[in-house]
Amino acid sequence: MLAVPDSGPSREELRLLAGGEPLLSLERLRAGYGRMEILHGIDLVVAPGRSLCLIGPNGAGKSTVLHSIYGFTRILEGTIRVAGEDVTRISPNQKLRRSGVAYVLQDNSVFPDMTVEENLWMGGYLMDRPQQAKEAAERVFAKYKRLADRRRQPARVLSGGERRLLEISRALVMDPKVLLVDEPSIGLEPRYIDMVFEILTDLQRQEGKSIVMVEQNAKKGLEFADVGYVLVAGKVARAATGRELLEDPEVGRLFLGG
Ligand SMILES: Nc1ncnc2c1ncn2[C@@H]1O[C@H](COP(=O)(O)OP(=O)(O)O)[C@@H](O)[C@H]1O
Ligand SMILES: [Mg+2]
Repeated sequence: MLAVPDSGPSREELRLLAGGEPLLSLERLRAGYGRMEILHGIDLVVAPGRSLCLIGPNGAGKSTVLHSIYGFTRILEGTIRVAGEDVTRISPNQKLRRSGVAYVLQDNSVFPDMTVEENLWMGGYLMDRPQQAKEAAERVFAKYKRLADRRRQPARVLSGGERRLLEISRALVMDPKVLLVDEPSIGLEPRYIDMVFEILTDLQRQEGKSIVMVEQNAKKGLEFADVGYVLVAGKVARAATGRELLEDPEVGRLFLGG
């Protein structure tokens, strides 16, 4: 069934699976880079306070889905909605400021020579006044003591796990409703991977954030997420609860090293 993406789940199935009214939805989205179409008609539904993990082979277009939601790709057709509003063509800055969608930047996006608090203030660069960003940063520090303890130290002293926490926290400064997270476990030592998933679980359960994640570590991602989509060649081949996908023999064979 994974080999035949043409027969993917229906929109109605995805809506039911989402477990609530759609907060974020993609409808028949075709998108790519330049003249290259990567996503060939993606439907996706996330409800408030719920989490969704995209798994699939390398190059399937998982990161491109997140890029498209945030506004980094060329949209050829289809619609992106947040709380019912058509946001297909708005810029990443407007997504963050107006629609409450944040993309967690990784890949060494932390500035090593700036202090932890200066890095955090950067998360509020779209706010009208610097003071607002500083107030938001204080809320983050109140929540994460391990960052507060190092607030005046250069970010380069942070461990890999703390650095990932800082990257996530920077996105929290704008108090988004939806967090887009690409491979939160990548490059981390095993002991920090659990920490990062605990942080994301807390953000979902205690703060009601919706989370859309891509995770190469499919086992971790599916254990975390309410809903899992299997992406193959730019289409949704399969969608089910995270638990169902974890127990699916074919998913196990292809993506869980089973
Ligand atoms: N910035 C880009 N410009 C052009 N092509 C890209 C870019 N990013 C990714 N691609 C291409 O899009 C396809 C899907 O990539 P990606 O979404 O990163 O896959 P995944 O995250 O599932 O591994 C790949 O063929 C990749 O080469
Ligand atoms: Mg990727």
